[in-house]
This record gives sequence, C-alpha cells and structure tokens, in this order.
Amino acid sequence: MPEKLPEKIFREDGLRLDGRTPDQLRDLRIEIGVLKTADGSAMVCHGKNRIIAGAYGPREVHPRHLAQSDTGILQVQYRMSTFSVGERKSPAPGRREKEISMVVQRALEPVLFLEQYPNSTIDIFIQVMTADGGTRCASITAAALALADMGIPMRDLVTGVAVGKINGKPILDLSDKEDKWEEGAADMPVAVMMNEKKITLLQLDGQVSMEEYEQMLNMALEGAKKIYEMQKEALRKKYNSELVGR
Ligand code: CDP
Repeated sequence: MPEKLPEKIFREDGLRLDGRTPDQLRDLRIEIGVLKTADGSAMVCHGKNRIIAGAYGPREVHPRHLAQSDTGILQVQYRMSTFSVGERKSPAPGRREKEISMVVQRALEPVLFLEQYPNSTIDIFIQVMTADGGTRCASITAAALALADMGIPMRDLVTGVAVGKINGKPILDLSDKEDKWEEGAADMPVAVMMNEKKITLLQLDGQVSMEEYEQMLNMALEGAKKIYEMQKEALRKKYNSELVGR
C-alpha cells in the first residue's frame, strides 16, 4: 500500500520527521563484492533504499551493432523490483527507468578510460530492491563501487547525493516522503567526482533562487564528502580482507 503523506514535514522541534537535522544524511551502509557472479559489485543501503549494482567487462558488445571501433562503451541498466515501492511496480521497464539508466551512465562515464577498450562494453546492472527516495543517487554511489571492485583503472569514484528544499528550507538527502512533498519544494540530485572536484550530474526539479541554489549545492557537496569517505573505507575493507585471505 502507498504510504499516506504526513500533514507536516517538519516536527515541532524543527527536526525532520525521521529526527534528522536539515544537513544530516540518512544512515548509510556499504558492502563490496556481494555478487559472486559479477566482475565487480556493491550493495548500498542508504536510508531505506536497498540497491545492488553488478558490473561486467570490458567484454564483447551485445548487440554487436552498438560496438564502436575507436572506443569502448558503458551500458547501464537501472531497474526497480516489483516489490520495491508501496504500489506494485510493473515489471516492464518504464520511461523513468530508461531515463535513470541514461542519467547514471552519463554520471559515471567521465571516470572511465573507455578509449582504452575499443569494440568493448562495460555493463552495469542496477537493481533497486527497496526504494525510499534518491535511488538514482544511491545507484550512482553503488555503481561506481562496482566498477572499482572490478579493478579497472578509474580517474576517481563518483558519489551521488540529493539535496532539496521544503517550505523554503534546504535539506540534504531527501526521503521518499520529503521527495513527494510539494509545498515550496525542489529536488536536486547531484553526482560528484570528489577528488577531481567535478560535478558529473546535476538535475533540478522545482524553482530556487540563486542564493538557495548555492546553499543547496554546498550542502550536497558536504554530504557527498561524507559518502565518499565511506565508499573509500568500504573498498579498503574489502581489499584488506582479500589480503588477509591469501
Ligand atoms: O529515486 P529518485 O529520487 O532518484 O527518483 P524519483 O523519480 O524522483 O523517485 C522518487 C521516489 O519515488 C523513489 O525513490 C521511490 O521511493 C518513489 N517511487 C515510487 O514510489 N513509485 C515508483 N513507481 C517510482 C518511484
């Protein structure tokens, strides 16, 4: 059943419904190498989002007509499970999933050296098992880690986080309820190459003033910095456990 929206989005004490301050991220847990059958994989549990990304390649392109003789390509497939949201989601991929697949692909491409793999593809499959707002951002965070787990050269990781505005107040990392709130609201998913200080995705839904935009972007970058540290820590943990297991 779809959850009913609350009457108020901020509590009497000024905190958000889940008790967070405006600039606080939801809990984040990352696990690397969760799929035995993929070349690289990661699971990101961000708030109530549960997302798995599996990466394969570089390998032969299918369908073959997509192959490019001067460069490799990155193909991304984002899918939400039928049981991932309150209302049963049709198993057929919809327009939203196709758009998010493309958005994630474009956010990740800048970190790869695709020109080194002519006629080849790197494939990423993303499965959202539970969705709770900000799945494209959490998918980017997970997919970047799956690529890193695959062991191919990368310029940097990519970190995704959403920032928004409700009743004129900027807030970090919107939950599903906050995402669906319409009064004075805006939603801005951002993906960043933290080390290279480059933004690879910035979408904005809603209206914001220049001042609000700057405030929101800064909030997103501060949040991304924290997620980036956790991404690196998760990779280190996997790498260290492999060294111990040798
Ligand atoms: O997930 P993200 O915020 O990147 O994309 P969105 O299209 O803005 O969706 C926001 C949220 O709406 C998702 O995270 C889901 O929690 C929810 N949603 C849903 O309830 N039913 C759908 N068919 C699609 C999304």
